[in-house]
Parts: sequence; C-alpha cells; structure tokens
Amino acid sequence: MQKRVLSGMQPSGKPHLGNYLGAMKPHIELQNEFECFYFIANYHALTTVRDQKKLAEMTQELAIDYLALGIDPKKTVFFKQSDIPEVTELTWILSTITPFGLLERAHAWKDAIAKGKKNPTAGLFIYPVLMASDILAYQSDLVPVGKDQKQHIEIARDIALTFNSTYGETFKLPQDLIDKNVETILGTDGVHKMSKSYGNTVDIFADEAEFSKQVMSMVTDPARIKRTDIGHPEICNVFALQKIFNLPKIKEIERKCREGKLGCVENKKFLCETIFTELKNAREKRIELRKNLDYIDKVLNTGAKKARKVATETLDRVKRHTGL
Ligand code: AMP
Ligand code: TRP
Repeated sequence: MQKRVLSGMQPSGKPHLGNYLGAMKPHIELQNEFECFYFIANYHALTTVRDQKKLAEMTQELAIDYLALGIDPKKTVFFKQSDIPEVTELTWILSTITPFGLLERAHAWKDAIAKGKKNPTAGLFIYPVLMASDILAYQSDLVPVGKDQKQHIEIARDIALTFNSTYGETFKLPQDLIDKNVETILGTDGVHKMSKSYGNTVDIFADEAEFSKQVMSMVTDPARIKRTDIGHPEICNVFALQKIFNLPKIKEIERKCREGKLGCVENKKFLCETIFTELKNAREKRIELRKNLDYIDKVLNTGAKKARKVATETLDRVKRHTGL
C-alpha cells in the first residue's frame, strides 16, 4: 500500500520563501511518490484572522498559489479544512483525552504567552488538538512540514497513542517529514526565521520589482564591505539559499566568495534571477487560474468529498470504540 502524506497550510498571508521551501515545494514533489492529502487550514487561521472578507480572499489566494505551483487535483486530494465537519467533531473527542499540561508545553502557546499576548483564546490553546484531528482523521503516515511544526506532530502522536491505549487500536501513528536541507529558512535579516511577523520575508509571488527589492535587501557576511573583501560563506544566508537554488554552481560560488572575486550584490542578483526563473511558470499559471474561479471551487469541492469519505470512516470507528 502506498503511504499517505498529509499537510495543511494556513491562509494567513502571502506565501514567502520559507513557506515555499519548507512546505509547498516538498508537498508538490511528494505527489509523485505518495497518496497526498493537502488542505487549507482556514479553521486554524481563525485564531488570528478576524476579518470575513480577508479570510475568504486569502483562502482563495492560497488555493490558487498551490494549484499554480503544481498541485495536481487528479493525483492529490486538495480541500478546505472547514468543509470536513468530522474533523472538528473529532477535535472535541480528542480534547477529552489530551492532558492540559501537554498543551501548556507547546512552543507556539508558550511563545504567545511569553510575548504577552492579550486575552489568549481557548482556540489558540487547543490549536494542536485540531491539528492532531487533521492528521489522525485521515490516518496519515507522513506529515511534511517545516521544523517549527515538528512539536505539533509529536503532540498528535502522543494523542493517538493515548487514544489507542485507552480505547483500542484506532489511529495510525503519524511521523513528521522534514527536509534536513531546509529545516528553517532565515529571513532577509539573516537572523530570525523567515516569517511575516518579523517583516523579513521574500514573497514568492510579489511583482518583479518588489521581489528583487526583497532579495537585494538580504543581509550577507558583515565582514564584506568591498567586493574584494574575503567572504565567509558558512555564515552567509545568501550562500545558504544558493546551496538550495544553485547547487550545481555552488563550488564555484563558494570559491569566488572566499577569494573576494564574487561580490554580494552580484551574488544576490544571480540568486534573484534563479528563483524568479524557477517560479516563472507558476506566476503565469496563477494569472490563468484567477480567470476561472469556478474551477478553483470545483477542485476544492471534489477534494472535500474524497476527504470526507475517509474522515467519516475514522470518526465512525472512533464513535464505536468510545461508545458514543
Ligand atoms: P506558516 O506560515 O507559519 O503557517 O507555515 C506554513 C508552513 O511553512 C509550515 O509547514 C511551516 O513549517 C513552513 N514554514 C514557515 N516558515 C518557514 C521557514 N522560515 N522555514 C522553513 N519552513 C517554514
Ligand atoms: N499548523 C500548521 C501551520 O501553521 C498548519 C496545519 C494545520 C497543519 N493542520 C495541519 C500542518 C495538519 C500539517 C498537518 O503551518
């Protein structure tokens, strides 16, 4: 049997290079090898977005972005989280066996509290239980995400183990799938992980001028003031990205940088062109997809039907095992 891969992404802003390398690109590549379920996590986004128009718009935009990047609805089950009520139903059931302390130790929750988040909601606190339901409802084997989501998958595993030992074998135990080369992509500041909240993103579908501005603003090796200064690629974030985007040329880039023969500006221009070229087809496809929004709805509805079938089977089993 082919292994099942599942992942979700929140519609909470424009996708950046971190999302692309840590999640979207691997998601697309995995379609060729596995049975894939991908969804737009609009229920999770409700914990941060409270504008009806914005949420609906961003959901549609993310669907377009994903399809443009190469999600193939013939191969992959692609849907919206809120179209599967069985998952939210399962969330309640799982919350009754999830220790409070487990959720208190979740990094995302701890960070929110440490940053002094005002009036944190119950929804934010049980965010990992909804995520566990997403994963377990589809009996997923592998969950490809960026490193920042690893703990949430461990929590899903813990919840599955507790449920199985309490009520008997019900859920498959999921495993994270994290690409070692792109665990965490740093932002343009070269310090923090790339994230909208740090304002250090390179937005993959920004227009050409903006995209180039963002790439050219990347901080490089601080020891290099002049083009001829000796470089230290091991501490340079641009070099880290070159390793991903221009691997065949990486030896030459490294040597020239160390010898002070490749300037940072030149290096960034080259990186910028390579990424832009890689995304050229997706950019064009996005324009086409936007002309046919009915098609987007159709794809998501078809995906929801397939996903619901699987989630319903799991929920029926859960109900039998719990005596509901
Ligand atoms: P988010 O934008 O936080 O909702 O994340 C969506 C997906 O992108 C998740 O799988 C994250 O792990 C991944 N991701 C977000 N930021 C980064 C980053 N800077 N580096 C690698 N992966 C990331
Ligand atoms: N919490 C994930 C994020 O912010 C999105 C998500 C929701 C998800 N449910 C999931 C990811 C299930 C993987 C599996 O990126």
